[in-house]
Amino acid sequence: MKRTKIIIANWKMNLTVPEATVLLSKYLKEINFHFSEVVVCPSFIDIYSASEAVAGSEIALGAQDAYFEDRGSFTGEVSAAQLFGFVEYCIVGHSERRQLFGETDKTVAKKAAACVRNKITPIICVGETLHEKEDGLTNLVVAGQVEASLAELTPSEVAKSIIAYEPVWAIGTGHVCSAEKAEDVAKKIRNLVKVLYGEGVSEGVRIIYGGSLNNKNVHQFLNKNNLDGFLVGGSSLDHEVFAGIVAKVEESEAKIGIRKVSKTKVRSSSKGKTKKK
Ligand code: PGA
Repeated sequence: MKRTKIIIANWKMNLTVPEATVLLSKYLKEINFHFSEVVVCPSFIDIYSASEAVAGSEIALGAQDAYFEDRGSFTGEVSAAQLFGFVEYCIVGHSERRQLFGETDKTVAKKAAACVRNKITPIICVGETLHEKEDGLTNLVVAGQVEASLAELTPSEVAKSIIAYEPVWAIGTGHVCSAEKAEDVAKKIRNLVKVLYGEGVSEGVRIIYGGSLNNKNVHQFLNKNNLDGFLVGGSSLDHEVFAGIVAKVEESEAKIGIRKVSKTKVRSSSKGKTKKK
């Protein structure tokens, strides 16, 4: 099965609203793609204006997190139900959330389910720390996180989700994981999904890599059977570097020659009206 490659920009908490607006307008001008998908994940405060800016373009929006309850007395939280209509994707269980904000596999599983319930594709992050890697625990840790984080999804929901393998020691450090190792972990994740949910699901789920990726090292990760794209942090804050990453993926996909199905988006204000309960 041919899975469409996806390149996701995670801007984290790096930009003010005016800065995010400027960067997004550069993305819209400079990033061209026909074979892969491109997603931008800005801060919550930028999502409304970003959804207006990307309307009519091929760039999709994602959130960086979402709370698992739909509504209620949860001061400061933003729910997947509130994000519905504005984003198509949402990162859940990023290692920064797991490490700095105490997120567990259990909350990640609930967040993934809340996204799916609200028609948002979860990007479920997993990955081992440096200590775990040095202790030879990578496969064990990643398998545990994958199994527990998918626990609240049905097989068909898993098939449509995205799993991001992001070794914690590679995030924002400049120490990129070798492409062979990333492919090996992705292959093991796909195998585990096959054991848990069957072959059809394992062939559908997209598994991507993240961690110190840039326009100079991305080529190593292309043409790997089990890697379906990238989650890009630091390099996504530079429009030229990010455009370079997308261009390399596009070049490689053009050789295979299957264009993705085009999804022109409607404006956010009309999207919210179509939600089905
Ligand atoms: P990085 O971050 O590309 O800056 O390493 C990746 C991520 O945290 O998603």
